[in-house]
Amino acid sequence: MSLNCLVYVSLANQEMSDEHLKSLLKKAREKNASLNITGMLLFRDGFFMQALEGDPDDVNNLFSTIAKDARHRDVILVYNKPIKDRGFPDWTMGFNKIDDQSLEAIDGYTEFLKTPTSEFFANRDNEAEALLNQFKHQLFF
Ligand SMILES: Cc1cc2nc3c(=O)[nH]c(=O)nc-3n(C[C@H](O)[C@H](O)[C@H](O)COP(=O)(O)O)c2cc1C
Repeated sequence: MSLNCLVYVSLANQEMSDEHLKSLLKKAREKNASLNITGMLLFRDGFFMQALEGDPDDVNNLFSTIAKDARHRDVILVYNKPIKDRGFPDWTMGFNKIDDQSLEAIDGYTEFLKTPTSEFFANRDNEAEALLNQFKHQLFF
């Protein structure tokens, strides 16, 4: 069975309260469970980064749906590549909210979720992956 991991970044279109985020995640987790999709969503001050992993067709289809969602815009694909093993096998969609303090604690990442341009993300696959991994052991909700 082949597996892909797709990572994108985007900007929220609306104020995302914890209630908004929880309701988004509730539906996402149900659908992801039915599709055997796992991953991680990070949110920092209006800025999303998400990893989706699973069957390549399912991941691509879900990404097309998510990219059209009116709750965010300026969706930039960071990478979509085959993987051997899932990075987030335990999460139908992990979630963490990141603040300046937690970003500053990781060397070199202060600007990371502040500059959502395709130029910035053009060759930052490894950093994006490392950032998602930093937050996978402790979920916000
Ligand atoms: C930032 C963001 C992340 C999302 N992540 C997921 C996700 O992981 N899985 C999912 O099913 N829907 C996710 N959604 C919601 C989808 O865009 C869509 O509303 C949902 O899949 C239901 O689509 P459907 O009614 O066509 O089945 C996300 C939406 C946003 C704005």
